[in-house]
Parts: sequence; structure tokens; C-alpha cells
Amino acid sequence: MELMPDATLTSLQLPPCALLINGQWRQSAHSFPVVDPANGQVLAQVASASLDDAAEALSAATNAFTHWRRSTATERSQLLQRWHQLMLQQRERLAQLLCAEQGKPISEARAEIDYAASYLNWFAGEALRLEGDWQHPSVAGRQLLNIPEPVGVVLALTPWNFPAAMVTRKLGAALAAGCTVLLKPAESTPLTALALAELAMEAGIAPGVIQVLPCATPDPLAAFLIASPQVAKVSFTGSTGVGRLLMQQSATTLKRLSLELGGNAPVLVFADADLDAAVTGIMAAKFRNAGQTCICINRVLADAKIAPELEQRLAAAVMALQVGAGQVDTVQIGPLISAKAVQKVQQLVEGAILQGARLVCQQRLPAALQPGPAGGYFFPPTMLADVTMQMGICQQEIFGPVLTLQTFTDEAQALQLANQTDGGLAAYLYGGDEKRNYRLARQLTAGMVGINATAISDARIPFGGVGSAGFGREGSKYGVADYLQLKHLCWELAE
Ligand code: SIN
Repeated sequence: MELMPDATLTSLQLPPCALLINGQWRQSAHSFPVVDPANGQVLAQVASASLDDAAEALSAATNAFTHWRRSTATERSQLLQRWHQLMLQQRERLAQLLCAEQGKPISEARAEIDYAASYLNWFAGEALRLEGDWQHPSVAGRQLLNIPEPVGVVLALTPWNFPAAMVTRKLGAALAAGCTVLLKPAESTPLTALALAELAMEAGIAPGVIQVLPCATPDPLAAFLIASPQVAKVSFTGSTGVGRLLMQQSATTLKRLSLELGGNAPVLVFADADLDAAVTGIMAAKFRNAGQTCICINRVLADAKIAPELEQRLAAAVMALQVGAGQVDTVQIGPLISAKAVQKVQQLVEGAILQGARLVCQQRLPAALQPGPAGGYFFPPTMLADVTMQMGICQQEIFGPVLTLQTFTDEAQALQLANQTDGGLAAYLYGGDEKRNYRLARQLTAGMVGINATAISDARIPFGGVGSAGFGREGSKYGVADYLQLKHLCWELAE
């Protein structure tokens, strides 16, 4: 069985591996390599933005804001639509790039491009639906108007796990609202973002509306931009630790923030659940992007009555997953993003076993997939049972292909276990009693709940969490609201 593809490097259509500032592609003094996590092969050298580059980009975004904010909603909507169309036209090229730099299976990469494009389509519609209101005055002759205005220049910090969808989810909303953007893509996956920006330029989006600043050492660059009062808002998807830091840094200039941070998603499986649907849903939501998704299931909580059967069915499904380079059509689990990521997952598994977890199953990876100088960052699909909330593996996002199982005996215990987390992005439940489903869904600590469903991501839903999973909503009509502020006009009209 083929696990590694023939060399794909030559077939990749790379975007400009440069900075995009004021509509111009520019090299910089330094560059950094982008590697394929399946084999360590260098895919490209990408320009790394300096603080001077960032200052220039900021000035371009600030200038562009003066005209972009005055463009009509129809113009902005049409440009987003054109960008969306170009993405679909280049779907295969974008999916190949995404797969090569991020590692996810090509089928998932294609699905991500469709998902990412759907945000542009959605926000093209939202641009047309922006509206304010008029109020009855308390003083005769006055007109009271509430008008939504774009907040200004936005710093978008996007993660490596969804290099396309997180760009369009942020930029689609920002542009629809009339904001201009500084985009800093994750340093391990800038190629997809650069290709998207190339298409945005082709769509006719004016110079200065979108800047792209790949950077090998992003912390000083982000700190520099956040310190500037010219940046009105920061939108970040990533870890809770970095989210906290960005919030501290934003305090001085009182920035608006949207933070989509880490989750610790539980799935509750009740005895009356449709187990076929539960197994399918759990496998899809646990192993999406090799477990490297913020809304991946982190903890399976099963009613003790069906736990043995669920364990057996899940174990069979885990052992059947095909691991390999994402470019191979049949592969379901690609590499993790880095050696550090593999090490972290390994430590969580070992720590849990030391604390009493039971290793239900773990695939043995063939030599071609073993980590090594020429090998990639693969981790074998694994299942652990008898885990407890005291274990690191239940407290932290695993971000790897490891399924954990624990049991409950009644509804109260199920809820108590599910909510033993200081924040929640997604939670899921499977059960046949719709009243209980609704009751629990309302009590789960999470921004989004899947009821007998796990594939919940959609441009039309408000994506976001509660507590340490962050705040702000992306997608939906609420997503664009995060890039707007109300201006009130109290207008005394001489009659
Ligand atoms: C994420 O992992 O942050 C995004 C996942 C999604 O949009 O479905």
C-alpha cells in the first residue's frame, strides 16, 4: 500500500513567496523555509517581514482605509464574490499547496478550500445586509441615527491548522465591514495565505486593503503592530496562552479583540444513542486533520452500559485508519505539523498511561513513516480508556490522533465530567431522548453544541467559544458585527 507519494514539489504552483504591501509583492532581507511535514522537504523559501516592513504595511493599510471604508457595500460584495469564484477555479492548486505545507489529507484539503471559499461567499452577502437604524427623538426636530462603521485597520493572526479557512473567515468579515487588513499567517503554512492574497489581487481588491506579512519570528512583529494605535482590532486563532498575551499587549491601546482559542471538546454518548451514527461522528470529529482542529473531540464520555461496545467499535475504526502523506488519495491521517507536536502528543499519552490509563490500541507505523532525519512527523492513531480528568490528556487539547474514553453512570455525572474545563469551544452529544439532549445542550460549557451531529462547521454559524476558549464570533451575521462599531448621530434639523 502506498503511503508516501512520488515527489510532488515540481507540480506545486507556488504563489509569490514574498510580502504583499500596498499591492506590491516584495522580497525582504531575510527568508525562511516552509517544509512538507510528511517528509521534511523544503517547499519554498518565503520572505520574512521585518519591523520596517510592518511599519510600511501599516501605513499602506491606514491610507487604504480612508477610501475602502467609503466604498459601497455592493462594490465590496462583488469583490468578495470574485475572490470566491477565483478560489473555486483554483481549488485543486490551492488544495495541493495546503496539503503540502500543512500535511492534511488531500480530500480534507479540498474540503477546506471549499469551506474557506464559502466564507467569502457568505460575507459577500453579509456586506449587503449591513444596516443601522433610526430612533424616535425625545426632542422634536431631531433625527437620531445609529450607523455601523468599520473599526479600522485589523491585524489578523491566522493558525497553521486551517491555513485557508481562517484567512477567509477573518478577511471576508473585515473586508465586508470596510476594514483594511494586515495578515500574518502562521510561519509553518504561509503559502496558502499568499496564494489566497494573489487571488484577492486578481479579483481587483485595491492595493493596501490586504497586506500579507509572513514572518519567521512573529512575536516581535505582532507586539510592534499591537502597540500601534493605528491598529484598531486584533483577530487571533490559536492557543489560549498566546491569546492571553495578546490581550495584555492590547490593553495599552484598548484594541478590539476576537480570540478563538483552544477547546477541550467532550462528546457524551448515552445508552439510547444510535451507536452507528455516534461512531461515525466521533471518528470524523476526533481525527479531522489528524486531531489538530480546535473543535476536535478531546474526550469521549460514554454511558457505562454501552461503553464496552463503543470501545470495541471505536478501536476497530482507529486501527483501520490509513496513515501516510496527505497527497496519497486514500490517506486519512497525515503527519502532525512538527516534531515538537509529535513529542507533545507522545508525552500526553505516556503521562496518561503512567497515571493508570489503559492503552486500548495503537497502530504500528511502517518504517517509512517513523520519525527520523528524512521521515515525517507522523503519530500512530491511538486509543486510551480509563482516563480521568486528573490526567494532562483530559485537561489539555491533545491536537493529535489519540482518542480517549471515560465512562459515566448518569446524566448528572456526564454533565459534571463534560464541564470540568475552564472554557469550551465545542461540545457534542449523542442520545435518543430529545428532551434530555436539549436540556444538556443548554447546560454544556461551550460556544457550540452538536446534537447527534459533529460536522458543525459552516460559514453561517457563529463560531466561537466561552471562558478560556476565547470570545467573539466568526462567520454568521455576528462575525461581521465584530468588525463594526456603531456611530450615533444626533441631528438637530432646522425646520
Ligand atoms: C479551528 O480549528 O480553529 C477551525 C475549525 C473549523 O472551522 O471547523
